[in-house]
Amino acid sequence: MEPENVLSLLPEGLESWEVLVKRTGLEPTELREALLVLQGQGFPVVISEEGAGLVLGTPAPQILIPLLRGKYGRAYRYFGVVTSTQDLLRAWKDAPIGAVVLAESQTQGRGRRGRNWESPQGNLYFSVLLENTRDPLLPLRAGLALAEATQVGLLKWPNDLLAPDGRKLGGVLIEAENERAFLGVGLNVHVAPLPNSAALEEFRQVHRAQLLADFLWSLEKWLAKESGTVLAAWSERNMTLGRKVVVWTGKEIIVGMAISLGSKGELLIRTEKGIHAVAAGDVSLLRMADDVKDAEVGEGEAERGSSGHSQSKGPRPSRK
Ligand code: BTN
Repeated sequence: MEPENVLSLLPEGLESWEVLVKRTGLEPTELREALLVLQGQGFPVVISEEGAGLVLGTPAPQILIPLLRGKYGRAYRYFGVVTSTQDLLRAWKDAPIGAVVLAESQTQGRGRRGRNWESPQGNLYFSVLLENTRDPLLPLRAGLALAEATQVGLLKWPNDLLAPDGRKLGGVLIEAENERAFLGVGLNVHVAPLPNSAALEEFRQVHRAQLLADFLWSLEKWLAKESGTVLAAWSERNMTLGRKVVVWTGKEIIVGMAISLGSKGELLIRTEKGIHAVAAGDVSLLRMADDVKDAEVGEGEAERGSSGHSQSKGPRPSRK
């Protein structure tokens, strides 16, 4: 029996050696060998004197599928270590809409704007296949699903999930190719990989498989909602509007007060020169008491004193 077949027979928590030997049909030494191989492949397998099994909350298919409420996630591929789940989903050519690829860790996890996404074991890293409808509200819908499923934190435009103290809990990367869109989610569940990031377990008990199932159900619901409902809900659940912000659009830096969302989800910013509508960009939040002068020390400085984020060790844009 291949180790991957052994993986599919493991329960959450410990099962006795006697039961596992019977279930797999393997000799105890072969079974132990297969479990060690799985551990080496990055799967959260527990091996002890009493028995073996999967760490509680492991999103292996046999644990995730019974928790699903909608259509998303029913086509599911689960891996130990991968480069990026985005790449594996792209390579899955006949994947149906709602298919999910998840990995326990990534060696080349990607964040927005070409940054790295630190992806150690213990968190959630997954990609969901969507139809590329070119809906400008998709980033906000995904952010709402993230905030709803985690029940913690607020959104930084468009879909960074921030802890109440402003550290980054998770983020969404949307890539598209022809008629397919790949929605990648990174969520720090048990490990905060960087000093400006937080782990969800600091705020609540989390079962990763349940959280993934909740997110997929929530995403399916938010994708079906009217745009007015999406804009209103996002405006209720954010940490951006009413704050001074510094936005890097890829072309210029805009400094001003984030006042509201446009009908296509753009961030409307009041500056000294008038209202700017930003369709895509990187937002750093300033403390309420900060004035625009503080932003001029650079994005990194602004972030240190506030809630700007990127889970990245990668390069930052230089100020124009
Ligand atoms: C962000 O920059 O805030 C978005 C981060 C998105 C990371 C996730 S992890 C799963 C998927 N695979 C990747 O390589 N990136 C996304």
